[in-house]
Amino acid sequence: EMSPEEAAFQDRIDQDIKIEPKDWMPAGYRKTLIRQIGQHAHSEIVGQLPEGNWITRAPTLERKAILLAKVQDEAGHGLYLYAAAETLGVSRDELTEQLLDGRMKYSSIFNYPTLNWADMGAVGWLVDGAAIMNQVPLQRTSYGPYSRAMIRICKEESFHQRQGYDIMMKMAQGTAAQKAMAQDALNRLWYPSLMMFGPSDADSVHSAQSMSWKIKMDSNDELRQKFVDQTVPQAEYLGLTVPDENLKWNEEKGGYDFSQPDWEEFFDVLRGNGPCNVDRMEKRNKAWDEGAWVRDGLMAHAAKRAALKTA
Ligand code: 3HC
Repeated sequence: EMSPEEAAFQDRIDQDIKIEPKDWMPAGYRKTLIRQIGQHAHSEIVGQLPEGNWITRAPTLERKAILLAKVQDEAGHGLYLYAAAETLGVSRDELTEQLLDGRMKYSSIFNYPTLNWADMGAVGWLVDGAAIMNQVPLQRTSYGPYSRAMIRICKEESFHQRQGYDIMMKMAQGTAAQKAMAQDALNRLWYPSLMMFGPSDADSVHSAQSMSWKIKMDSNDELRQKFVDQTVPQAEYLGLTVPDENLKWNEEKGGYDFSQPDWEEFFDVLRGNGPCNVDRMEKRNKAWDEGAWVRDGLMAHAAKRAALKTA
């Protein structure tokens, strides 16, 4: 049974009126937004590691500049999202602490390794492609600061995907060895990309409530299906084969039938047993520790400036 405030709140949600930081909101709404926006921000920051690995190894200066720009964008996306989370009463330091001690997650996809340059193409094409599929609807999410952050982020994401697909085209249409690398990258990153949309709707603990509060606009399976339907023709254009022998166009459904990812593997990665979980956490903890002197210096400087003002 809803309280009068909860009923009034749900009414605003149903009328697509944006909820702003100063508005009353149910504790559960605030809690799940901090969880989702915080983990989204963590994904942007940790997501820089797989690609950062290849900035110094890019095949041309142009590819290096493009990849550098993309990784820099991801840092900015993290900043927009941490700033949106702060409007809910949680600090960036608290969120970072929960990432570093494992209480908060980041997208499972970043626990897979990027082994060669073709992976930079497959990550841009598939991972940013999946991220766009998930983020475009989030521009209409009910919480104002999150919606506005999504609108800014989506403006930059299409470049991320295009540059990845451009790398894949170059390699798929290159030498036999290059095409084999592109196919291998697709083979390794296809199912982990499908996992980015979350568990099946039947196993999704947050979807029902998140959809009622318009925090989630489409179900996990709906977005996964849209991603497959959009991506298969792109793979065909590249002359590459999606690693799924059950993939088949289903006329009456108007979409592809496809094999589900290995959900055992998914939940194992979430428990911290993916190929790169330990490495990613070590790198983030190291960056936090090594950056302490910068943060302390900035805080000391800010305190001095504040003291001058009040003097
Ligand atoms: N990786 C890690 N954890 C995942 C996950 C994934 N791919 N998919 C689901 N989970 C977690 C959920 O966080 C939840 O655990 P929690 O309660 O500890 O948070 C649990 O699995 C159950 O999943 P649900 O479907 O019930 O959870 P949600 O309703 O939160 O749906 C989601 C999951 C679709 C990822 C949703 O949180 C979401 O849309 N988040 C915002 C988008 C986002 O985070 N995208 C990350 C992509 S990477 C990125 O954006 C960077 C880009 O620039 C490359």
